[in-house]
Amino acid sequence: MYRSHTCGELRESHINSSVTLAGWVQKSRDKGFMIWVDLRDRYGITQLIFDEERTSKDLIEKTRLLGREFVIQVQGTVIERASKNPKIPTGSIEILVSNFTILNSSLTPPFTIEDETDGGDDIRMKYRYLDIRRKPVRENLIFRHQVTMAVRNYLSGKEFIEVETPYLIKSTPEGARDFVVPSRMNEGQFYALPQSPQTFKQLLMVGGMDKYFQIVKCFRDEDLRADRQPEFTQIDCEMAFVEQEDILNIFEGLTRYLLKEIKGIEIDKFPRMTYDDAMQRYGNDKPDIRFGMEFGELNEFAKHKDFTVFNSAELVVGIAIPGGNSYSRKEIDKLIDWVRRPQVGALGMVYSRCNDDGTFKSSVDKFYDQGDLANWAKVTGAKTGDLICVLSGEINKVRAQLSALRMELADRLGLRKTNEFAPLWVLDFPLLELDEETGHYHAMHHPFTAPKPGQMELLDTDPGAVKANAYDLVLNGNEIGGGSIRIHDKQMQATMLRHLGFSAEDAKAQFGFLMDAFEYGAPPHGGLAFGLDRLVAILGGQETIRDFIAFPKNNSGRDIMIDAPAFIANDQLKELSIKLDIQK
Ligand code: AMO
Repeated sequence: MYRSHTCGELRESHINSSVTLAGWVQKSRDKGFMIWVDLRDRYGITQLIFDEERTSKDLIEKTRLLGREFVIQVQGTVIERASKNPKIPTGSIEILVSNFTILNSSLTPPFTIEDETDGGDDIRMKYRYLDIRRKPVRENLIFRHQVTMAVRNYLSGKEFIEVETPYLIKSTPEGARDFVVPSRMNEGQFYALPQSPQTFKQLLMVGGMDKYFQIVKCFRDEDLRADRQPEFTQIDCEMAFVEQEDILNIFEGLTRYLLKEIKGIEIDKFPRMTYDDAMQRYGNDKPDIRFGMEFGELNEFAKHKDFTVFNSAELVVGIAIPGGNSYSRKEIDKLIDWVRRPQVGALGMVYSRCNDDGTFKSSVDKFYDQGDLANWAKVTGAKTGDLICVLSGEINKVRAQLSALRMELADRLGLRKTNEFAPLWVLDFPLLELDEETGHYHAMHHPFTAPKPGQMELLDTDPGAVKANAYDLVLNGNEIGGGSIRIHDKQMQATMLRHLGFSAEDAKAQFGFLMDAFEYGAPPHGGLAFGLDRLVAILGGQETIRDFIAFPKNNSGRDIMIDAPAFIANDQLKELSIKLDIQK
């Protein structure tokens, strides 16, 4: 038996017990006549004590050989600590060691393995297995496990069946590029790794599974951000014989259950907002509604004077920054520089101070009088002491710019509180989205999403106006899930693919299997997928999903621990009939 207890288990009630512990040496303090060692495992830290009076000389000498992260097995007696440490659960006791065995030595770790570490991102990624020994990382992984268990528990209780779908498949378009895998046995041919199990879960509905879920890896070759990884995990779900309302209810139930179980927070009905409203009020299809600062559209009160910048703009829109009138001229100039950065892209920013005496002082006083500015304040909801920031330009661009400013200011003002949770359903997404570069429409969600009833006809005349039975679940300004009611009719699916620019041959080659299945009694169906990594990170009060993934990729999509991706041997390439024209 390696151990009788873990390093997080012993309390005052164990005093005088003989125990065996095993773990890693976190650190030792040598006072000459006395040595303390912190022994760590997944469960906690227990202090070991060796002293001249009670420990043999040989053992003390052996203790001095212990380095950080040595793995040891220790026998001893639990005793009461002279000076207790109320900060850790085992802080009232220590182990008077009678003997120990070194199970394995360790090189000096490249960074300190404690709650606070001196290791930078790269070095911690390279030695991720050491980082995982640190409590904050370990706790994130345990937290993820708890969320995952709760999800399985809830869905299983609602009669969802977890079914595994294959990873070696054909392209499933979710808007990103595919990762592909060459097939040795089928020369020149490639599998694609699933961007999601979308088509398979629909086939499971045709197969009569009725309620499916899967906690599943998805693969997308896209540019990485804090909330994106090339491989990530979905809680993927699908249901047959449902309408949008049924789906919203079930998954609102799941989210509510998680908030209650994991965070102890009870949230009643989740608010709902249409996509159009979200764009108009927040400039964003995943608005953070933990705070206000809603957009005020100012065309009516800004385009009637001689200010050509506004007059030539499609949209003039502003927000009120609470307490912003206290900003100095220099601070406001910095804000203007901020919106002009290429990442935001605004040409400039107009502002109006809301003075304590009820007057206004704007950067465009030449054009606008107090009455105009009072209207700006009214429309943006600005109060005395606030600063109204106004941007103008092309409607989609200016909304995105002001939304970026809104989020930045909310961060600076501490309005995005991590212990507050504000879920929101965003409904009625457009079916199609115009790709400005190519001038073509593509599916905003994916090509299997059904248009709202009666809208199919609009596809020919005004494709951009067609709304879909598609919805996103937003939590604290992050899209944590999305789904739709699906097309389950072959003809309609063929029409949709035609509108998306697929020739009949291409449609058949890529999605013939799905359309064929629709001919054998496909039930009406729909579903949704949560991003598990995002959900866990946000419930954990953070937005960087990497911290909740055991072995994540860095921003260039590399695993720097195992050094992947990597070149492969010529023999292997040959076997796969692949010729590369790049030099290694
Ligand atoms: P969608 O593409 O919206 O829908 O993905 C669902 C959810 O997955 C998460 N997500 C990601 N998380 C981390 N890294 C990524 N690269 C990444 N991409 C997406 C998001 C997102 O809301 N098949 C459909 C679902 C359906 O229609 O049922 C789908 O995949 O949280």
